[in-house]
This record gives sequence, structure tokens and C-alpha cells, in this order.
Amino acid sequence: MSALNISRILDVNLAPEGHLAIEWARRHSPLVDGFLRDRLSDKALEGRRIAVVVHLEAKTAFLATVLADAGAEVVVAGSNPHSTRDEIAAALVDRGIAVHSTRDSGYDAWEKDLLSVADTGPEFIIDDGAELTIRIASQRPELLAELKGVTEQTTTGVARLAALAERDMLPFPALAANDAACKHLFDNKYGTGQSTIQAILNLTNMLMAGKTVALLGYGWVGRGIAAHVRALGGTAWVIEVNPVRALEAFMDGHQVGNIATALPSADFVITATGGRRALSREHFANMKDGVILANAGHHDLEIDVEALADEAYDFRTVRQGIDEYVLSGHRSVLVLANGALVNIAGGLGHPIEIMDLSFAVQGVGCHELARGVVPAGIHVIAPEIDAEIAAAKLGFHNIHLDVKEPHQEDTIDDLLRREG
Ligand SMILES: NC(=O)c1ccc[n+]([C@@H]2O[C@H](COP(=O)([O-])OP(=O)(O)OC[C@H]3O[C@@H](n4cnc5c(N)ncnc54)[C@H](O)[C@@H]3O)[C@@H](O)[C@H]2O)c1
Repeated sequence: MSALNISRILDVNLAPEGHLAIEWARRHSPLVDGFLRDRLSDKALEGRRIAVVVHLEAKTAFLATVLADAGAEVVVAGSNPHSTRDEIAAALVDRGIAVHSTRDSGYDAWEKDLLSVADTGPEFIIDDGAELTIRIASQRPELLAELKGVTEQTTTGVARLAALAERDMLPFPALAANDAACKHLFDNKYGTGQSTIQAILNLTNMLMAGKTVALLGYGWVGRGIAAHVRALGGTAWVIEVNPVRALEAFMDGHQVGNIATALPSADFVITATGGRRALSREHFANMKDGVILANAGHHDLEIDVEALADEAYDFRTVRQGIDEYVLSGHRSVLVLANGALVNIAGGLGHPIEIMDLSFAVQGVGCHELARGVVPAGIHVIAPEIDAEIAAAKLGFHNIHLDVKEPHQEDTIDDLLRREG
């Protein structure tokens, strides 16, 4: 059966534009196109069923094609109802890869798409937010036996896998790709930091210099966002619930305070907590007229847009990707990209070079799972593999490192001899 017959996409005629975007992603993805392809050449993935459920745009699609080239039977869905690029989905189907996803599909259609992917009985999942894994565990438990392993992209997804494990619902190996150094040190910080600010400024056509940004959460994502705000001349006002992270933000030179202090002067408010309703009903009254809200965390629910709509007496879309809610006292609160991840639903997603690193981690993780070398439970790829990926990336920048010589080691024997 052709991929088109078993897919749900908008229009396969959009494929030519999608092919161009995937080719552009390939040109800037030397790790996935080289290092990962080499790893997969041992045929460990041949004939294996792999579901890729990550934001469906060009970089994800390129990863899917590399897995398919290695002989895997790949099926793809988006990890968020707002972030799929229809031309990319079309290009994948045109290449013979089944896809279940359309942009802005709404939650019901998205749920159905995820279950359609679940029903293909994947052996391996490259997941984002554990969106497919959770649905298989809760709605298709009989398919859990088919599952030989999951590799997970995000902080939120890893937390969800840990919650499944606590409930004895994780009988298979899971790799926390997010916890690999080559993922969170670069993707969460530099990738999300740059692409979030880029998306906000592109959507609004506004200037960052001189602006105050209230930033909820100072994890890897928050650190990156704050650094990019500062680089463009803005001031980040960090709101944290963890005192160590708050102290780190303070020492990094940002303003730090609680939400009540930070909100009234904020021009932009950005959420990056990984939780739900970080901005909720009681906060909207404390914001200035014209404030712009954006979310960079995994949940579309970090900003409680439903509660905001409930509080508002008027609503309109003022510009593509910008919704205005008018509250009592004629105060406007503007929400970018419906409160979905602004850098992906409202922008182009992470820079390609960053996703090259993240997808090298995900792809190598999937290969480790297929080789059967990962035991049940949640693990991180071996530090040597992390180091190999980093060295390969440096190699593409023509940077080669020195090797520590044995005489440069600080050994306990040396110390004991000296003491003696
Ligand atoms: N937009 C993207 O492309 C992208 C990329 C990577 C990760 N993520 C997502 O971003 C989120 C954050 O990721 P991370 O790696 O920084 O996670 P993290 O766990 O390292 O950091 C989250 C921080 O938020 C703080 N926090 C939690 N609730 C809070 C609240 N109500 N108010 C203020 N602070 C609060 C925590 O104390 C923590 O320091 C996750 O959902 C992750 O999956 C998004």
C-alpha cells in the first residue's frame, strides 16, 4: 500500500516546497547525514518499526528519511497540534514515509493521529514530551509488549517517563536523550534561547533593546532565553521557585523576584517551567496594558489561555500568530502562537545545527535500543558516545583536540610517594 493511502496529511501536492526545506536541513546537518548514517550502516534498524513523534518540520523529516534509508519502517506524527508543517508532511509521504499530521489540527484530530501511529505497533519511539508513549501506556496497553524502547527528547517527557516507571508502567528501556550533554547543554540553552527570542521578535516586529522580560523558569531553557534577551539589550527579570536556580540567575546578573513584583513592569512574559498554568487567572490582572505573553515550555498549558479567554470581554486576532484579549479597564493582553511553543508553532524551530546535535543523540539512542544493549528502565547514552558526538561536531568545524598524556594525570600514587 502506498504511503499516501495510509497517511493523514493536508495535501501531497505541497511536497516540492517540503523537499527543498528538507534538503536545506540536510546541508547543515553533518552529524545526522554523516556520523549517524555511518552508525546505522550495520543494518541494526533494517525492518524495524520506528515511530517518530517530534515537532514535524524539516529537521525532524530529515531524521525520518535517514532512519528510512537505514531500512527502518518509519511512521511520523507531530508532537504538538500547532507545530506541523504541511509541506514537510507532504514531502515525507512523497518519499514513501507514512505521516499522520496536519497543522493546527485541533486536539481531537491530533489525539487520533497519535493513536493511528500507536496502532502501527512501533517497536521503537523517538518521542517528544512522551506524547506517544503515554498514549500507548494509557490507551493501547496491549501494544506495550511490542515496544522495545523509547528515546525521549524533552525535560517534560523524561519527567513523564519517570512517572510511568514509578507506576510500574515502563517495562521497556528508555533513553533520556534530553539528559545527554550533547542535547540539553545546546538544544535547551542555545537552540531554544535563540529561537524563542527570534520568534517573538519576528511575530511582533518589535525591538528587544530597552524591554523588560519577565521570565518564568531558569532551567536550561530559561538560562538560554535570559542570555539572548541580554544580548539584544533587554532586561530579564527571572521568576523561580527553586532558590538555587534563582541565586544562579542573580549571580548571572539578571533581576530576580517573585511573580507579583516582576509582572507589572514586564513588556514580555515568557514561560519556561515545564509545568502547567505558570501564568494563571490571578496573574492577568497584575500585567500592564499591551503585555505580550509567549510560552517556550513543552505544555501549551503553561499560559492558561482558557482562563484568560474567560476573563476577557473582547477578543480578536490582531496579526498572524498574535491574539488580543481585552480585560476590564480596557487592558490588552496579547498571546503569541496560542500559547503553544512560540519558537516552533510561531517560528522556524531550533537552528538546524542544534537539531543536528539533538537528532544525532536521538538517532544513536534508537540504534543502541535496536542493538538490545540498553536494559529496561530509564538511562542516558554512555558518556563516551556523548563525547564521540561532540568530537564529531567539533571535527566538522575543523577543531581537533589534544589528548591528555599519562604523565599529565594527577595520580594518588604520586601524592603518596611525595608524602612518604
Ligand atoms: N521550546 C522548545 O523548543 C524546548 C526545547 C527544550 C525544552 N523545552 C521544554 O522547556 C521546559 C523547560 O525545560 P528546561 O530544560 O529548562 O527544564 P528545567 O527543569 O531544567 O527548568 C525548569 C525550571 O522552571 C522552574 N519552575 C517550575 N515551576 C515554576 C513556576 N511555577 N514558576 C517559576 N519557576 C518554575 C523550576 O524550578 C526549574 O528551575 C520543559 O517543558 C522542556 O520540555 C522546550
